[in-house]
Amino acid sequence: MTPSKGPSDPLVGLTAALADSPDWFYLLREFEALYRFGSAGGSPKIRSHRRAVREALSKVIAANPEIVDRPPERLPVVAHLPRALDLGERAAMQGMARALREVQHRLAWEYGYDKVPKSLVRKFAYCDILGPNGAVPCDNLTLGFVLFAPRTTYPQHSHKGIEESYISISGAWSENNAAVYAPGSLILNGSGDEHRITTGDTDPCLLAYAWVGAPEALRAPSMKFTPPRKSG
Ligand SMILES: [Fe+2]
Repeated sequence: MTPSKGPSDPLVGLTAALADSPDWFYLLREFEALYRFGSAGGSPKIRSHRRAVREALSKVIAANPEIVDRPPERLPVVAHLPRALDLGERAAMQGMARALREVQHRLAWEYGYDKVPKSLVRKFAYCDILGPNGAVPCDNLTLGFVLFAPRTTYPQHSHKGIEESYISISGAWSENNAAVYAPGSLILNGSGDEHRITTGDTDPCLLAYAWVGAPEALRAPSMKFTPPRKSG
């Protein structure tokens, strides 16, 4: 007996609202929990950034927008993602790592450069989840992930008109040689603050990011690179 062909996927060709897209919805819930219950470390500036992120995010969730799935894009560094998620699932940010695993095949990774420096081709990529270019549309908040290979230095830069926070999901990294951050750490870079990222020797590093700014700043974020200062 030939098995009868099952019904075709009833969802093909249908658009879906956020509330009907559990994978994206639960990922945003993880962001909301991080920015609601994570520590501000006693810093008013960090507290107000966290508030701005979760207020914007709550509005998006309440508005229940249509999901705009972009065509998935894979870049060389994504070969490190399974390891990053595996480590993430064993550490403090396991909820986020698990939620990200569920959407990993729908992510549109990019470089954000017209011409990516050769030294970074295999070393990094980022993907927006929510924002002007994310699957979940929003004009005053961008959320996403950036992935770095081991032994990567991302050059010194700053963002104009954008307040940026990183939350470590897996791996270890330093900003401006100031400290070593572990999963669960939150780092805030104000508009124009210069920062350079260096990752650990043996494992990839996965960070979640939130950008808060005016719609025009988030739509076409300008990133200013600073030539390295001569030491000594
Ligand atoms: Fe940055």
